[in-house]
Amino acid sequence: MAKITFTTHDNQTFNVEGEDGATVMETAIKNAVPGIEAECGGACACATCHVYVADTWMEKVGSPEAMEEDMLDFAYDVRPTSRLSCQIRISDDLDGLAVTVPERQG
Ligand code: FES
Repeated sequence: MAKITFTTHDNQTFNVEGEDGATVMETAIKNAVPGIEAECGGACACATCHVYVADTWMEKVGSPEAMEEDMLDFAYDVRPTSRLSCQIRISDDLDGLAVTVPERQG
């Protein structure tokens, strides 16, 4: 289990619990976090699960793989901390993770 904080672009905060092995995207959908659309269902084929990882978490979360990098090209307002949340798998190591949802997807 890991506690994850989602902050929306208009500063709503969602503190939720993510199960080990689930993805950050699945956790957002399960908890009705607004702004995560996840149109492809987690196949790394849509970029509508884009989030910004908090600076302090970047090292633990790690960098995107090549396929995710390619898909991020289709995301709106990509930043150095951008990740596709369907590609971040939860483990105890990510307890306390904080991400921000972009103003819009795509
Ligand atoms: Fe489609 Fe993440 S849900 S890329």
